[in-house]
Amino acid sequence: MHVLITGGAGFIGSHLADLHLGRGDQVHVVDDLSTGLRANLAQHEDNPDFRFDEADILTWDKLERAVGWADRIYHLAAVVGVYRVIAEPTKVLATNIAGCERLLRAAQAGGWKPQVVLASSSEVYGHNEEDVLREDQDLSVSTRVGTRWGYSVSKIADEAFGLAYAQRFGIPAVIARFFNTIGPRQVGRYGMVVPRFVAQAVRNEPITVFGGGQQTRSFCDVRDTVEALDLLAWRAGRNTLVVNVGNDREISILELAELVIERAQSRSTIKHVPLREAYGEDFEDIRRRRPSLARLRALTGFEHRYTLERTIDDLIAIERARLNEARDGYCTLVRPESERAA
Ligand SMILES: NC(=O)c1ccc[n+]([C@@H]2O[C@H](COP(=O)([O-])OP(=O)(O)OC[C@H]3O[C@@H](n4cnc5c(N)ncnc54)[C@H](O)[C@@H]3O)[C@@H](O)[C@H]2O)c1
Repeated sequence: MHVLITGGAGFIGSHLADLHLGRGDQVHVVDDLSTGLRANLAQHEDNPDFRFDEADILTWDKLERAVGWADRIYHLAAVVGVYRVIAEPTKVLATNIAGCERLLRAAQAGGWKPQVVLASSSEVYGHNEEDVLREDQDLSVSTRVGTRWGYSVSKIADEAFGLAYAQRFGIPAVIARFFNTIGPRQVGRYGMVVPRFVAQAVRNEPITVFGGGQQTRSFCDVRDTVEALDLLAWRAGRNTLVVNVGNDREISILELAELVIERAQSRSTIKHVPLREAYGEDFEDIRRRRPSLARLRALTGFEHRYTLERTIDDLIAIERARLNEARDGYCTLVRPESERAA
C-alpha cells in the first residue's frame, strides 16, 4: 500500500510511519519540521520504501503528485499545542483549515479517490461536560474572549471539509477525534502535560500543576492510537466515519502528577501554578474530557495494549537515558522497556 503522511515527522505521524514501514508499505512523509523532527524518522532513512519532503503543506509543489500516488493519506500537519495555539492564533486557522482544504482539493482534482484519514480532536466538543463524549453529540465553540478556540474552530472546519468532499466527490474520509495522546517522542515544550511531568519527576524538580489539578483527562498511548487508526481505516473502506480515538480511563491532573512521582520514585513535590500565570488572562480550561469508545469498539473490536502506568514507565526510562546521555556526553539508543519485553 502507498501511504502519504502529512506532519509525519511529528509525534503521532512518526509512529504511523513506523507501523506502515514495519509492514512493508511505501511511505511518503511531508513535514515542514515546525514542531516535528527529522530524528523521529532516523530509523527509516535507509529504507527504500521511505521518502521524505521538507515542505509546508500550504505551498508544497508536489502535493498533487503525492496525493495521486497514495492509497491512504493521513492528514496530521497542523499547528498544535496550547502554547502555539495561544501565541500564533492566525497561523492555527490558516494552516489547519487551508492545509486540509488544499489536500482534499488535490485529491478531488486528480480524480483518484484515496482514503483520507483526518486528525480531528476532542477539542471539537468544547465545553461539553457530559460524563462521556459521544460522536453524535453537538459540538460547541465558546463565545467568550480569547483565541484558544481557534484550534477547535479549525478542527470543526476540517471535519466539515472532510464530510463535504466525501458527500460531493466521493472521497472517503475517516475523521478521527483524538483524545489526549501520549507516548515516546512527544515533547513538553508546546504545552503537553505528561512529558513535562515526567521531565520534572526524573530531575526531582517540583511538578507544576496548572490550576487546582481537579480537571480530568483520558490519556491514550500513541502505539495504541496508531493501531486503532489503521484498524478503523481498514474497516471503513470506502465509507466515511467520525470516530473518537483514545482511552476511556479518566484521571485528574493532580492524580496524574502523583502517579508520575510514584512511578519515578521521585522526590518531587507538587507546585500549583495559577492558570492565568501559565497561559495568560483569557485562558479557559476544560473541566473534563472522556471519550465514549462504543463506536470504535463496535467497528473494530479494538483493545488497548498499553496501560497509563506502562506508558509512564516507558517515558521515565527514556527521559532517564536522555539525562544520562547529556551528563556523560555520549549517545545511546533507547527502546522503551515495554517494547524490549514484547
Ligand atoms: N497529540 C494529541 O494528543 C492530539 C490530540 C488531538 C488532535 N491531535 C492532532 O493530531 C495531529 C498530530 O499531532 P501531534 O501530537 O503528532 O503533533 P506534532 O506537532 O508532533 O505533529 C504535527 C506535525 O505537523 C507538522 N506541520 C505543522 N505545520 C505544517 C505545515 N504547514 N506543513 C507541513 N507540516 C506541518 C509539524 O512539524 C509536526 O511534525 C495534529 O493534527 C493534531 O491537531 C493530536
